[in-house]
Amino acid sequence: MSIKTATVNGVLTIEIARPEKKNALTRAMYQGMADALVGANEDKSVRAVLIQGQPQIFTSGNDIEDFMASPPRDEDAPVFQFMRALLGCEKPVIAAVNGAAIGIGTTLLLHCDFVYVADDARLAMPFVALGLVPEFGSSLVVPRLMGHVKAAEKLLLGDPFTGAEAVECGIANAVLPAGEVVNQARRVAERFNNLAPSAVRESKRLMRAPHAEQLEAVIRQEAEIFGARLRSPEAMEAFQAFFQKRQPDFSKFD
Ligand code: COA
Repeated sequence: MSIKTATVNGVLTIEIARPEKKNALTRAMYQGMADALVGANEDKSVRAVLIQGQPQIFTSGNDIEDFMASPPRDEDAPVFQFMRALLGCEKPVIAAVNGAAIGIGTTLLLHCDFVYVADDARLAMPFVALGLVPEFGSSLVVPRLMGHVKAAEKLLLGDPFTGAEAVECGIANAVLPAGEVVNQARRVAERFNNLAPSAVRESKRLMRAPHAEQLEAVIRQEAEIFGARLRSPEAMEAFQAFFQKRQPDFSKFD
C-alpha cells in the first residue's frame, strides 16, 4: 500500500510512500488518506494528524495516468472524499514537506493547520499548464493569501515557488533543513497531547467557520469546471505530452 498510517504518541501519521512514481496520488491512495482522516475524528487517542511524504518528494500531485483513465466523476470520487475529510478534520493537521509538492500537493497545504517546509521544497500549482483550472478552493484561498498579482504567477503561469516564498505569503510556518522538517512537524503535533482536546477542536472550527460557506461554493464551482476540463482536448494534449516527455502544443486551440 502506498499510504502508510500509524498512530504513535497521540499523532496519526499519514505517509505518502510511492517514491518510484514521485508519490503521484492514485484513487486508492486518496481513499486510504480519506479513511485515515475520517478515522482520526472518531479515535480519541489521536490528538493531531501529521501528513508527510518521502525525504526527496512530498507528492507530484494527482497521478496523470489516473486522470486519463478514470477522471473523478462526482463527489463520491476518492479525491473528493480525501479533500472533504481534510477540510472536515476536527483535529489539527500538520504537513511536513520535503522536495516537490505539485498540484494537489500544494492545494492540500492550504487546508492544513500547520505547514513546515524543507529548504529544498518546491511548490507548484501547474493546473493551467495541464489544461485544467484551480481546485478545492485554491482560486479563493491563494489570491486571498498573497494578492491577485502574485497569485496570477502561481495559478495562471503555474510558476513553482520555494519554501521561503511559501512562508512569506502565509502558506507555510517555517523553512527548515531537509532532515529537520518531519521532526519539527512531529514536535508541534505532539504539543496537542498537552492541550485541552475539545477546546482545540472548537477553536479550529471557529477559525474556519467564517469562510466555510464561501469556500464550499467555490469548491463546487471549481469542481464542475475542473471535471469538464479533464475531458477537454487541451488537457488530453497536456497529459499525452507529459508521458511523451515533451512540451504540450496548445497552438491549435483558441
Ligand atoms: N502522475 C503519474 N506519473 C508520474 C507523475 C504524476 N503526477 N509524476 C511523476 N510520475 C512518474 C513519471 O512518469 C516517471 O515514471 P516512469 O519512471 O515510469 O517513466 C516517474 O514518476 C519519475 O518521474 P520523472 O518525471 O522521471 O522524475 P523527475 O525527477 O525528472 O521529475 C517531477 C519529478 C515531480 C518534477 C515530475 O515528475 C513532474 O513534473 N511530474 C508531474 C507533476 C504534475 O504535473 N502533476 C499534476 C498536477 S495536477
